[in-house]
Amino acid sequence: MTEPRKKITLPYLFEKVSKGEPITWLTCYDYPTAYLQEQAGIEMILVGDSLGMTMLGYDSTLPVTMDDMIRHTQAVRRGAPTAFLVGDMPYMTYQPSVETAIRSAGRFMAEAGCDAIKLEGGAAMADRIRGIVDSGIPAIGHLGLTPQSVSALGGFRVQGKSAELAKKIVDDAKKLEKAGAFAILFEMIPDRLCQLITERAENCIIMSLGSGPHAHGQLLIYHDMFGLYPKFKPKMAKVFGNAGEVILNGLKAYHDEVIGKQFPQPENWFTMKDEEYDELKKMLD
Ligand code: KIV
Repeated sequence: MTEPRKKITLPYLFEKVSKGEPITWLTCYDYPTAYLQEQAGIEMILVGDSLGMTMLGYDSTLPVTMDDMIRHTQAVRRGAPTAFLVGDMPYMTYQPSVETAIRSAGRFMAEAGCDAIKLEGGAAMADRIRGIVDSGIPAIGHLGLTPQSVSALGGFRVQGKSAELAKKIVDDAKKLEKAGAFAILFEMIPDRLCQLITERAENCIIMSLGSGPHAHGQLLIYHDMFGLYPKFKPKMAKVFGNAGEVILNGLKAYHDEVIGKQFPQPENWFTMKDEEYDELKKMLD
């Protein structure tokens, strides 16, 4: 039997960075998937507010509540006890004030067993990061395409393509790093911009989602990897297996076998002893 994995900690993540070993990070929203990700050795898990779209069927992440997040994050923690678990702060649970941000972050730690939280936004959110970190909670920033601001950003599109906008992202990253973020996720920025930021990071782990190979690690959305989100397939999402197709074929086969009376077969049901059955019949007569 293989030894259970040791808990993934912040020092472990920084050690990987210092050795030049990429960090693996995936989104996850439920117990069975968390169990599989833990078995596969995935080091970081993000319970993203993308669950609003992938699990709850909303058109955006905006309707997701803190209670939605806590319920899913607790399930993920039960399935992945040693992963470095990150709770994603949903819309308007940190934007209103530093105090709101600290209280929401505290819920992820106290109620769901998280190791860190993530929140979206640049310089304007630096004081939220500072407040959370000063409360003893590790915090991750999120720059580039930030889905909670998708309307202001003009849609799901690559960010920082011009030198001027790229410079703003570099400046925002420095502000978050100075505020105490131990990591920053860059979503959909050009690869060379992400490389420049990674080279300049002093004590901050740079993670990429569709931002190229030069970061310290990679994040993907689980549902995109396995064909489980039918509405949209972003370019950055490599499909590692079409679980959606496998499940759909299984569902159709089940439907056809029930209709065709091929399911169930004796191995799929339970029997009782003849004498018990006869006794039952007598009792009923
Ligand atoms: O909610 C989420 O899954 C995220 C990713 C898009 C990074 O924030």
